[in-house]
Amino acid sequence: MSPTPAGERATDPVTARSSARVIEATDRKRRGVALEPAEIEGVVADYVAGRIPGYQMSAWLATVACRGMSTTELTALTRAYLRDGRRLDLGAVGVPVVDKHSTGGVGDTTTLIVVPIVAACGVPVAKMTGRALGFAGGTLDKLEAIPGLRLHLAADELVPMIRTVGMVITGQSADLTPGDGATYALRDVTGTVESIPLIAASIISKKVAVHADGLVLDVKTGAGALIPDQSDAVLLTETMIALAASFGLPTRAVLSDMSQPLGPAVGNALEIRQALALLGGQRSPGLWELCAAISRLMLQSVDPELSDEAADAMVDRVVTDGSAREMFVRWAVAQGADPAALTDPGRLPTARRRHVVTATDSGVVSGIEPRSVGRATLLVGAGRLTQDAALDHGAGVVLHRRVGDRVGRGDVLAELHYDDGDADAAVALLAGAFVIGDGTVAVPPAVHRVF
Ligand code: URA
Repeated sequence: MSPTPAGERATDPVTARSSARVIEATDRKRRGVALEPAEIEGVVADYVAGRIPGYQMSAWLATVACRGMSTTELTALTRAYLRDGRRLDLGAVGVPVVDKHSTGGVGDTTTLIVVPIVAACGVPVAKMTGRALGFAGGTLDKLEAIPGLRLHLAADELVPMIRTVGMVITGQSADLTPGDGATYALRDVTGTVESIPLIAASIISKKVAVHADGLVLDVKTGAGALIPDQSDAVLLTETMIALAASFGLPTRAVLSDMSQPLGPAVGNALEIRQALALLGGQRSPGLWELCAAISRLMLQSVDPELSDEAADAMVDRVVTDGSAREMFVRWAVAQGADPAALTDPGRLPTARRRHVVTATDSGVVSGIEPRSVGRATLLVGAGRLTQDAALDHGAGVVLHRRVGDRVGRGDVLAELHYDDGDADAAVALLAGAFVIGDGTVAVPPAVHRVF
C-alpha cells in the first residue's frame, strides 16, 4: 500500500485525525497501557483504507510485537482483521467440514498428504493455502508444479468441489481478511512477523473467515520454526486455541518438530512426488508420524468419540488400499490438473542437474540445520529471494539422511536438484547444514505434544 504524500495528509482532516489516533495508540502501547478494542479496530481500519502511512502502522505493529497484547486486545485485533471481509458459507456442504493450518517450515509437505487422507476417510476438508514465506515453503507454490491445476477458485466453486470430490485446496483469498492482508505484507518487510499476538490474530482471523466445523493447527518448534523456542511455541499454540474458541471455532493442535527438515524432499515438484509416495504407502520417518497425528486429530475433530486406535486404523486403511492417493488425483483432476502428471510423476517438472553432498567424516548425524537447507533451495530458484521472482518448480533438495543416522565418510547426505542459480553457494550451505558427531544422539520426536 503506498502512503499518501505527507503534504496532502497534513491538510486533510480525516487523515490527520487517523494519524493522530495511531500516534496516540503507539505511545500508549509503548507505555504499557492496554488499548481499547475500538482503538485497535480504528487503527487497522485506517491502515486498510489508506488513511495512515506504512511507517506509522509499522511503528504501531513493532510496539505491539514488543509489548504483547491482552486477551481482549487480541480478540479486537482479530476482529479488526476480519472487518469488511467475506465469510465462506461451508454450512451448504451439509456435513461437518475440517480445516488445518501449519505455521510452516522446511520440507513440510503435510497438507498435501493429510487433506486427501482425511477426505478419503469420508470427512470433507476445505483448505485455503498460501505462498512460501522466507526460507519456508508454501503449499500454493508446491501445487503450481502440477500442470493445469487451478488454484484460484471462485467462491461459488468451493462448496460444489467439496460436495462432489470431498476436498478443496485453493489459494488464500485476500478479501476474507483485508486487515491481515494489508498488515501482513508490512510485517513481512519490517521484522514484525515473529510476534505471538500478531501471528495468532493473523492465522486465526483467516481460519474464522473460512469457518470450518473444526480446525487442527500444526505449530512448529525448533530452529526452522517461525517461533523456535519451545515454551514460546506452546504459548502461541494455547493462544491460538483459546482465540479460535472465542470465535466459536473448535480447535485441536500438535506441537511438531522443526529442528531438522520434516521430510526428505524440499522443493516444489519434489514435494509433490514425496506426497504421492506417502499417499501410496511409503512411511518416511518424521513426515509420516506427523501426518498420521494430524489426520487423527482432524478425524476426531468431527467425531470426538473416535478413539485414537480407530482413527489410526481409518488412516492406515485409506493409505493401504490406495484410496487416499486416488482422492488426491481425483481432486487435482477436478481442479484442472493434467492426469498424466499424477499417474506418472516423472512428468512433473524436473531439474536438469544434480550435485551430491557427501559426508567428510564418519559418525552419527547429530543435526541438520533447517534454515540452511531452506536457504539452499532459494538459491537455486525453488523459493523466492525477491518478491516477484519466478520459481523453478523442479529445483530443490533431497535429503538422504536424518538426525540419528550413522554415516560413513563419502556417504551421500543430500542431493541438490537445480537448473540455474547459485549452485556453489547452495552446495556450501547444504554441506554446512549437516553436523556429524561421534556419540549417540537424541532423535527428536516428530510430535512433541498434542493439545
Ligand atoms: N502465517 C500467517 O498466516 N500469519 C503469520 O503471522 C505468520 C504465519
